[in-house]
Amino acid sequence: MITNTELSKYGNQYPNQIIEFKQDNDKIYFTTQNGVILQITVLRDSAIRFRYATEHAFEPDFSYAISEDVNTGYNELEVLDEKSKYVVQTSKVRVHISKVNLKTYITTLEDMVIIEDESGFHWEENFDYGGNIVKMSKVTQSGESYYGMGDKSSHSNLKGKRVNNWATDSYAYGKDQEPLYKSIPFYIGLQNDMAYGIFFDNSFSTYFDFAHEKRNVTSFWADGGEMNYYFFYGPKISQVVEAYTNLTGVPELPPLWALGFHQSKWSYYPEKKVKKIANTFRELKIPCDAIYLDIDYMEGFRCFTWNNRRFPDPKKMIDELYEDGFKTVTMIDPGIKIDRDYWVYQEAMEKGYFCRRADGPHFKGKVWPGECKFPDFTNPEVREWWGGLYKEMIAEMGVHGVWNDMNEPAIMEVPTKTANLDVRHDYDGNPCSHRKAHNIYGMQMVRATYDGIKKFSFPKRPFVLTRAAYSGTQRYASTWTGDNVATWEHLWIANVQMQRMCMSGYSFVGSDIGGFAEQPNGELFARWIQLGIFHPFCRVHSSGDHGDQEPWSFGDEVTNIVRKYIELRYQLLPYLYTMFYRYVKDGLPMLQSLVYYDQEDSQTHFRTDEFLFGEQILVCPVQEPNAKGRRMYIPRGKWYNYWTEEVVDGGIEKWVSADIDKIPLFVKEGAMIPKYPVQQYVGEKKIEELKIDVYFKEGVETSVVYEDQQEGYDYKKGRFSLRRFRLRGKDTELIMQQFKDGSYTTPYENIKMQFHGLPFKINKIEFNNEFVDLDHVQFDGKNSITVSKDFTEIHIFGE
Ligand code: NOJ
Repeated sequence: MITNTELSKYGNQYPNQIIEFKQDNDKIYFTTQNGVILQITVLRDSAIRFRYATEHAFEPDFSYAISEDVNTGYNELEVLDEKSKYVVQTSKVRVHISKVNLKTYITTLEDMVIIEDESGFHWEENFDYGGNIVKMSKVTQSGESYYGMGDKSSHSNLKGKRVNNWATDSYAYGKDQEPLYKSIPFYIGLQNDMAYGIFFDNSFSTYFDFAHEKRNVTSFWADGGEMNYYFFYGPKISQVVEAYTNLTGVPELPPLWALGFHQSKWSYYPEKKVKKIANTFRELKIPCDAIYLDIDYMEGFRCFTWNNRRFPDPKKMIDELYEDGFKTVTMIDPGIKIDRDYWVYQEAMEKGYFCRRADGPHFKGKVWPGECKFPDFTNPEVREWWGGLYKEMIAEMGVHGVWNDMNEPAIMEVPTKTANLDVRHDYDGNPCSHRKAHNIYGMQMVRATYDGIKKFSFPKRPFVLTRAAYSGTQRYASTWTGDNVATWEHLWIANVQMQRMCMSGYSFVGSDIGGFAEQPNGELFARWIQLGIFHPFCRVHSSGDHGDQEPWSFGDEVTNIVRKYIELRYQLLPYLYTMFYRYVKDGLPMLQSLVYYDQEDSQTHFRTDEFLFGEQILVCPVQEPNAKGRRMYIPRGKWYNYWTEEVVDGGIEKWVSADIDKIPLFVKEGAMIPKYPVQQYVGEKKIEELKIDVYFKEGVETSVVYEDQQEGYDYKKGRFSLRRFRLRGKDTELIMQQFKDGSYTTPYENIKMQFHGLPFKINKIEFNNEFVDLDHVQFDGKNSITVSKDFTEIHIFGE
């Protein structure tokens, strides 16, 4: 591991003066006398790619991270040849490139420095490795903050930290432990209210140092490959995140059930136990949509097999569970047991699909089944084959979702915890060693899984969950944060990790609620559920060797709290689904850290605990035992306390009461929050009515509700229902306008508006510009009306 950017074993080398300059449409090349080429590509006016070659030669341009749907196109591109520098100018930024040493800095059109090379690009010819360690260092501006970087378990603001991206099986990891399961080499810098992003698209082990080694230097480097990074200019964090997300892609909409509550354990078996768990959910009326089968459903941990003693008729069991609303999710690992009588092993051997060591033989490593071999998922033919293996499980047995675990890949009994670095990979026709392929191995596995499942689930939508990930994996799978621990500190970590993942383009995330390792007490479990229902992926999972971790395992008081919160999640499904739609459509993260929400307010720059669930609900978990409430920062603006309806003015830290059955929860004034009735599982009930909680505001606020069939692909043909609401309140009036799009007809006819904080008594109502009899709008005499779903304008007059 390279531990220091500047002090290198073999000495750093630096570019010298530019001797050649060339432009080829959106690409500009600068060549130095000592053979460095800087290639600048303008993707958009505020998205620019920098690539550096040494010895006059670039590597083939190939990346797994970049989405096929990336938006490109700029308004302006001009290259100015000035005395001591070149300037590449777009309609948003100027890139200045020194003629003397190739150092760059980027400014706004008003000449404010956004980011600036310190040493800039340099490299070390590392003779142990026999290749380049590529490095970049930037100046840390005063007051600069850093965010993003995927699943790091550190303070949300990474200033002063050093992190490493090397996908690692990290059982019972701790705060600040590095590296973890995922590799998402993307960060956001914020200084002087200007945000920018850097995505270092290099799949080798990468390092980022945020003013840790030197107070005024931020650097990043990789154990091999190219210095190849994308720069995004905001100035808003939201613009940076959207640009990065657009570059690396978004998933398709999941089936709505995937946003329900999921119950898992290592492991539920035999069949009787699975049924018992499912039945208890229904008996106790705790909503649940999915139940997970961990490795023990397999025969000797052989993927794509069933242990017939534990599960004599899996298809029947899956069907019966489904009749009761449960979707079954099964685990598949990458390691294939070495067993000449096992069909998957045989096929892979015959076809030559397993990874080989550099000197020829197959790579072998121990996982659950003992000695295994590992398919090379970086070979497209292997991916196709792997996808096909799911046919029986999905198309015939009816499994609804698949969970890919241990795909870093995790190898037991070796100090590196993973494959040898000399293992060979196809890398889609760019052969390389595991040094380069390690971080994308898990991603290519879930990509193959996703493609297979999608095919066999059709016309339904696939559901895949992964542990390892590289930038762009969000296109294929949801993810969880691995083997956490049942401690209060881990509740804090889970909160930070989810926000950080969302800021890093990966929104479909959750933690093992209650903790994977060790046993939570009831209080910790209840507090974790209160947070977990606000995470995009909501699943209880545990290692199972310490005790039970079902909602009813901690006594009646906790069961009742847990039920209440899971019910709240089910009520909020249309709001949550709309959040997902916004993520898919516009790259909007499903959770927003406070700094994302209001970067101008410097109070938010170091906050970790509070976050926005979607765009209008503020959440702040209680992360300590015996608490009756907590202090929290309420961002600027006016917020309704969800429980008391008291309106508070933000911009201050406040004590908020939250006994064991409450979590501090606020709704932005003016919000119109859609709710469904409580269901035991998605689709249990026909939705007879959409309820909207309307939070009065003096002024304007817009809200959105997206709905569709909750399954299938008709929404892609326009069969969706998008309601945009514009609310405008005055002292004695409230106007709500609706703008509709899409051709899906929702099953309900009416919308029930429940008003909160209405400062007047309802006197008259105009519906689409005509006064109506109050009876016609089913006025309850107080604070709710029920109206036809197709209204265009409701105008409420007070007394
Ligand atoms: C490790 C995973 O992180 C965990 O969730 C799972 O239960 C075990 N592997 C067993 O499959």
